[in-house]
This record gives sequence, C-alpha cells and structure tokens, in this order.
Amino acid sequence: MSLSPKLFIFISFLSFTISISIAQTSFKPKALVLPISQDTSSSTTQYITQIKQRTPLVPIKLTLDLGGGHFWVNCEKTNYISSTSKPILCTSSQCSLFGSHGCSAEKICGRSPSNTVTGVSTYGDIHSDIVSIHSTNGNYSTRAVSVPNFLFICGSKVLQNALPKGVTGMAGLGRTKVSFPSQLSSAFSFKNKFAICLSSSSSSFPNSNGVLFFGDGPYKLNNDVSKVLTFTPLITNPISTAPSSFLGEKSSEYFIGVKSIRVSDKNVKLNTTLLSINQKGFGGTKISTVNPYTVMETSIYKAVVKAFVKELGVPTVAPVAPFGTCFASKDISFSPMGPGVPGIDLVLQNEKVKWSIIGANSMVSVENNDVICLGFVDAGSYGAKADQVGFVVGGSQPMTAITIGAHQLENNLLQFDLDNSRLGFSSLFLEHDNCVNFNFTSSA
Ligand SMILES: *[C@@H]1O[C@H](CO)[C@@H](O)[C@H](O)[C@H]1NC(C)=O
Ligand SMILES: *[C@@H]1O[C@H](CO)[C@@H](O)[C@H](O)[C@H]1NC(C)=O
Ligand SMILES: *[C@@H]1O[C@H](CO)[C@@H](O)[C@H](O)[C@H]1NC(C)=O
Repeated sequence: MSLSPKLFIFISFLSFTISISIAQTSFKPKALVLPISQDTSSSTTQYITQIKQRTPLVPIKLTLDLGGGHFWVNCEKTNYISSTSKPILCTSSQCSLFGSHGCSAEKICGRSPSNTVTGVSTYGDIHSDIVSIHSTNGNYSTRAVSVPNFLFICGSKVLQNALPKGVTGMAGLGRTKVSFPSQLSSAFSFKNKFAICLSSSSSSFPNSNGVLFFGDGPYKLNNDVSKVLTFTPLITNPISTAPSSFLGEKSSEYFIGVKSIRVSDKNVKLNTTLLSINQKGFGGTKISTVNPYTVMETSIYKAVVKAFVKELGVPTVAPVAPFGTCFASKDISFSPMGPGVPGIDLVLQNEKVKWSIIGANSMVSVENNDVICLGFVDAGSYGAKADQVGFVVGGSQPMTAITIGAHQLENNLLQFDLDNSRLGFSSLFLEHDNCVNFNFTSSA
C-alpha cells in the first residue's frame, strides 16, 4: 500500500488534530508505551526508540540515554520543519525548569545538550513542539496522545556523531524536571515512574523487541511483570556526572547502593570505600544504557575476575577486546538460560536483596562463537578505546566505580520510581518471560 505524500500529510494532520482535541478534552492516559530496538544497522549497539514530533508529525529516532538529563534533537534548519515549534524565552517558567541556563541575543533560553556516547557537548536553544506517543492500558498499546508543548534542546550535526544512522537525538530519561519521563508524567498527571525492558534480539521499527513504559503498571508481557519486582533505593550523587553541567548540580544518573559482590555465593574481597559515593561525587554504582557492557574500576574488576575464573575452573584463552577475560566456548555448557557459569550477585541494602547476574547477562560470545568472554570491562585498560565501551570519564580512576551496562540489563525489567526514589528490578529469564512479549498491535 502506498499513499501519495500529500494525502499522507493530510491524514497525519487529521489524526493529529483529532488526538489533540482528545488529549485536551476527555481522555487521560494512565500510562504510555514506546518500542525499543537495538541498533544493528551501523556498528553501534545502542538502544533506540521512535516517537512522532512536529507539525506535520514525523517519526524521529532517538538513542535512549537512561541517565541523560535532557531530551535533545538536531534542529538545524534542513532537519527540522514544523509549524508548531516555539522558542522558549529566557523569562519563562519553562526556562527556569532547566536550572542554570544561557540566554541568546534573541532572549531564547538555552543549555548544553550532551552526547553521552562521545562526551561531546554543544550549546543549543530550547524549544517546545508537539510530540505524539501511544498510550497503553497495560495489556497492549492504545490510541496515540499528544503533548503540545514538549520541551527539548536543539542539537546539531556534530552532536549526532557516533549515533546510529537515522538517529537525530537522544532521549534523556534521567533525574531532572525536564527529562522525557518527567515531562510526560506532568503532562498527564500520572505517577513519575517509568520502566525499561531491553532485548538482545534485533528487529526494526515498527516491530519492536523491547519496551519502555511511562507511568505505573500493569506491564503485561506474558504476565504482568510489574508484580515481580524487587526494590532497592535510588541514591543521589550530589555531583554531576554529565559531560557538561553547572557547579553545584546533582547527577541526573541513577545510582544504587551495591554493598558487596558475590561470585557463586562467595563474597569477593574488595575495597568497599569505592562502592560509596564520596563528597567529590566519585565512587558508587550507576546504571547506563549507553555503555554496552559493565565497566568496573580496575581493582574491583580484577577481584571479580579472579573469583570468577577460580569458580568456573576452566582455562582462560587470549582475550578479545574490549573484554579482558575469555574462555573457549567448548569448555562451557549451555542451557536455555544461557551459558552455565558462576552467578554474580550485586548485594544491595541487605544480604537478602541481590541483583543476580546469570550467564545470559554476564557472558558475551565473540569470534564466531568459538570464544566466550566475561562481558565486563576494566575501566583502566581502555583509555584509547574509550569509544568501544562508551566510556568517557575513564582512566584507571573512573568517576563511578561500577557502571552497569546494557548487556547486563537485557531481559531485565527495571522500573524507576521517582516519586518513591526506588528501583524495582526483575530478571525475566527467571520469570520465563521476555521483553519482546509486549503487544504493540494498537487497537486504535
Ligand atoms: C488486562 O488483562 C488482564 C488479564 O488478562 C485482565 O484481567 C484485565 O481486565 C485487562 N485489562 C484491560 C484494560 O484490558
Ligand atoms: C580504597 O579506595 C580508596 C578510594 O580510592 C583509597 O583512598 C584507599 O586507599 C583504598 N584502600 C585500600 C586498602 O586500597
Ligand atoms: C494484541 O492486542 C490487540 C488489541 O489491541 C488484540 O486484538 C490482539 O489479539 C492482541 N494480540 C495478542 C497476540 O495478544
């Protein structure tokens, strides 16, 4: 089926007009839903989502940035055509939501958007425009709803470097008043909660292989996975960890309180001072969707590897970058739950609350599956290859001791509850469920 461009624009315009009037009159969604897909078109492994924005509405692809404070999109003229885009003035209340900010000669509010993959920041004007997203009843996706004055920072071509082909911005889901989830929850007055479920199997839009929910559950995959969560407090790092920030700004990233690490239920001896955040904002454990793999400060990495190799009891082989610890696949047993390797537990607020990393999340197959590596990266060994691990504040003294990366998040449901400052998590492997199971077949 093909529509003439004019007709297509007319139809989009019509549906957009209808959805606005709906949003403004009766229908108030309790939750919204977006597909997530892992990029396979280029060499990145970034997770991307797609929303509709502007008038007429166009689909735009964005890299998901869990800890990113802002939503930015390339607004350079040829890339951005919309009759509803409005600059935000420096004197407006929307401008003050961005905290410290700049002001252009034209009195337009601005801030630095950052590409957290490359660490590059530029300066950009803040605008508002309409965005359209599908709502959900928790069981499947329902009608599209619009936010007429969604705020975003204007990015540029240079800021897009290292993002996948066709991706023109980043959707920051971090802890700010203007992040993607915060704006949606205030637009529709639903709970300031969102959940991500990343999948490793690839497929492209409109098919999806993972899901992002805004608002509270149910989150129905095979089962309602909002019911199977374990909770741990979210911790605030008082010092910004972003590539660009103002003095005194808190980090917009999500930190959790890992107290110790266990391999095969045995405590790994490590310098626990590194696990807490000090006054300079160093140390602690955060969660990132832009780091493909978990990155650990060198002494922690070495201690975990030593325990893991000992417990696994098979010889290591020549490592394959960016990993430092690899094995011959023939020496490892495989089951539907993934490679049979020692479990790695991140012990949280008490001995009973653990984030368990099973083989499917800890191991990565490389070299035509002949070699399988522990999917953790030593922060100290990748200075020159920082891009490969998406690690920008690196060196052997990374600002954050442990960054839990995307491979370790796959097929885990993570719910970020900002109202109660807690993280709910669950490994769907253990629930016999999968992030691909949400029904995106819209009923409207
Ligand atoms: C969602 O599914 C559950 C279980 O199948 C059912 O009880 C509930 O009524 C459904 N809710 C909606 C809004 O369709
Ligand atoms: C533990 O780490 C802290 C912070 O880097 C450091 O100051 C301290 O010397 C370390 N302790 C030991 C025993 O290595
Ligand atoms: C998905 O949801 C639609 C309603 O939007 C329903 O008609 C369809 O049967 C559902 N598909 C599956 C596989 O449950």
